[in-house]
Amino acid sequence: MRSVNSDMIQAFAALDTHRSVVAKTPMRDKFSGDPERFKRFSISFRDLLLDYSKNQIDAETMPLLFALGKAAGVEAHRAAMFAGEAINKTENRSVLHIALRSLPDEIFRSGGVNVVPEVHAVLNRMAAFSDGVRSGEIRGSGGQFTDVVNIGIGGSDLGPRMACLALSPYHDGPRTHFVSNVDGADIRDVLEGLDPDRTLFLIASKTFTTVETMTNAATARAWIVERVGEEHVGAHFAAMSTATDKVKAFGMSEDRMFPFWDWVGGRYSVWSAIGLSLMIAIGPAGFSSFLGGARAMDDHFRTEPLERNLPAILGLIGVWNRNILGFPALGILPYEQRLARLPAYFQQLDMESNGKRVKVAGGATVMGHTGPLVFGEPGTNGQHAFYQLLHQGTDVIPCDFMVGAYSDAKEDYNHHALLLSNCFAQTEALMRGRTIAEAREELKGEGMAPPDIERLAPHKVFPGNRPTNTLLYKRLDPETLGMIIALYEHKIFVQGTIWGINSFDQWGVELGKALAKTLLPMVEGKQSTDGKDASTAGLIAAARLLRGG
Ligand code: F6P
Repeated sequence: MRSVNSDMIQAFAALDTHRSVVAKTPMRDKFSGDPERFKRFSISFRDLLLDYSKNQIDAETMPLLFALGKAAGVEAHRAAMFAGEAINKTENRSVLHIALRSLPDEIFRSGGVNVVPEVHAVLNRMAAFSDGVRSGEIRGSGGQFTDVVNIGIGGSDLGPRMACLALSPYHDGPRTHFVSNVDGADIRDVLEGLDPDRTLFLIASKTFTTVETMTNAATARAWIVERVGEEHVGAHFAAMSTATDKVKAFGMSEDRMFPFWDWVGGRYSVWSAIGLSLMIAIGPAGFSSFLGGARAMDDHFRTEPLERNLPAILGLIGVWNRNILGFPALGILPYEQRLARLPAYFQQLDMESNGKRVKVAGGATVMGHTGPLVFGEPGTNGQHAFYQLLHQGTDVIPCDFMVGAYSDAKEDYNHHALLLSNCFAQTEALMRGRTIAEAREELKGEGMAPPDIERLAPHKVFPGNRPTNTLLYKRLDPETLGMIIALYEHKIFVQGTIWGINSFDQWGVELGKALAKTLLPMVEGKQSTDGKDASTAGLIAAARLLRGG
């Protein structure tokens, strides 16, 4: 059991003392005083470069953070995960999404059993199925499938949805669509315009009980039955789940079932059968490169000392910002439009993993803060929306910027150079800021009269000293995407370890789910709202009135 030990208390105390030293020199002065700062505080792995020099850190900070990581037992906990120990203590499960991207001759054990042969057996079945769908050998009632609809939610939706968009230049299979919300508008809008004779549905649910997914799956089934006929249902559906008995009960044949295992968390499942829509879209070879990128990051994370370890460094900087400097949020700001769903994906990965307040050891409440609020939008769109607050708001919000050096467009004109310069300009502005003297100078240069300068200058001041990381990569290909996702998975692991929480359960989503079940008959008017609080009862009554019932 991991618990706060005296080394950790000392490490946190040392960081706390160090904070006031670091705070004396703003980042802009740190840069002008040290031409080597970028070199000192950046690290590369393959085609990824992590620049963390634009943080409120100095030469003393990183050793103190590495000492904290060591005191918290990050290395031992990492070894325990890779050894397949049941580190998901509240569910008594191994945490082995890393096995999903293993090579066939590697060994990962859960409960003493090597899981790698099973992983590859399913991957091979997925590849055969994907090839069949892509070639037209596996077909619908009206011939080759033109469209694939993934029905799932949370981890059974966000990963493949994000990755399909990110890797759209690699698509050479049928079109992919995603349905997640229980709002019927979601599935209606997706189905509109699709040809039922040529549409394949993938029902993605780890538990195969999630009400949103089961409701959408039933609607999709009814749509096929009505338009194509009951006898064709089998041809138009496949399922990905750990609950094979429930999938069978739904009426799916064995060859249309792609299992995974309870040691894969939903938000860590894009590498498993849950990635089938991605594999159908980009082909088994592309999917294999995606896994390969993650595997490379796994090897790096497992073998490198904390001092040269990208996920560890990113995680420790996050702890510095969250716990020592007290910043409450984290912006995820990918500059490529095709990474538009990455912030939502990382939001679940981070907030469902580390949005916890009870320690694994002993069930005590964590002292201090755990996971930040994670949000984001693709780069330049965000600039014209919420960056105002990032630059001049009263809260300091650390942000992770990401951008590829190359665009994959054949004729890019000057789009990509502009994209890069926007990304780098924002981190420079957040770091440097603008002083009142600089603001006055600028306005004077524009020929403004002195009273107007005095009136306007305070509004043009940027405090600066606002922390950012920049992740620069060569281009957004399957391997790079795999590396970036695994980087964040392990970063979150490092932070969860330091906070002493279980990053792999999600009890916090249960209460709302259970209450929704009890409210349904009340909303339908089949049961009275007696005993409910006045607000909930009032809302139900008002909704029933508006619905005319
Ligand atoms: O939101 C809770 C959660 O359990 C997530 O962890 C999971 O990704 C999602 O629901 C979907 O669950 P399932 O894959 O079992 O349908």
